[in-house]
Amino acid sequence: MRNSVVVGCSNSKRLARSLAKKLDVSYSDLFTDRFPDGEKRIRFNARLENKTVFLVQSLHPCPNGSLVELVFAIETAKELGAFKVFAIVPYFAYARQDFRFNPGEAVSNRIVARMIEQAGADGFITVNTHLHRIKNLREIFSIPSDDVLLSKEIADYAKKKIKGKVLVVGPDWESTPLVKEIAKLLHSDHYVFKKKRLSGTRVKSFETPGLDCRGKSVLLVDDIASTCNTLVSVTKILKKNGAKKVDCVVTHLLEEGGAKKALKNGVSSIVCSNTLENKFSKMDASGAIAQEIGF
Ligand code: R5P
Repeated sequence: MRNSVVVGCSNSKRLARSLAKKLDVSYSDLFTDRFPDGEKRIRFNARLENKTVFLVQSLHPCPNGSLVELVFAIETAKELGAFKVFAIVPYFAYARQDFRFNPGEAVSNRIVARMIEQAGADGFITVNTHLHRIKNLREIFSIPSDDVLLSKEIADYAKKKIKGKVLVVGPDWESTPLVKEIAKLLHSDHYVFKKKRLSGTRVKSFETPGLDCRGKSVLLVDDIASTCNTLVSVTKILKKNGAKKVDCVVTHLLEEGGAKKALKNGVSSIVCSNTLENKFSKMDASGAIAQEIGF
């Protein structure tokens, strides 16, 4: 598309380059460094006048600094004359803080959405964000906003990885839309657990009415894995109920250490997408994002 540029911010340069290729538009790196006192400095290398600018920045690692970088970039792009600025945030940090869980706490997902909007973004796209107490991004954004699921990418991966019939499993009801779409693409059955979280890091999966995984190969999918305790707990239950093997796919893997631990604790394999770049990123999210942008 003429007069557009994809700008890769510090956490998402590889994905941004791949997106630029898919969209067939030019690519530019955002220059970033820090002043000695820790403040961030950013600078665009490309001319932005009258251009549609796609800023790509996952808000992990370092959610706070990454958010500051994004907000600075949006506002600066507008000041430099960009026609439109779209915030492409493959991993949207703070999405899980969507409720005042304890008196006096911030409902951070709304505040972050407002910061992105007030900086001047004309649109927002993310990938498989955590939608729990809010059902739709439109509840926190008033600019056009979209959540892209990687169902096709995950189904394509599963077709190559797992031979024969697959049972697609989700660890909690929030994973239901993704699990259903993947199962449909694979012409497979699906099952969703009911999960109870005891604290930020301790998970108890329970209640498995109608679970029949005896002798089956399971594809366990989730939006986010951090400690991977959820994947390990669910895998244990699946194995106890006779599952042959459990291959895991998550959209966003926050901690490589969690994945390594999962592999030592019953999980047959684990991969994630390149919304976050690490050694488990095997699926490219750029095609699904490009499609959402509409080229
Ligand atoms: C929460 O509801 C999410 O969907 C994930 O299941 C959760 O964030 C995974 O966290 P962990 O890997 O630390 O168990």
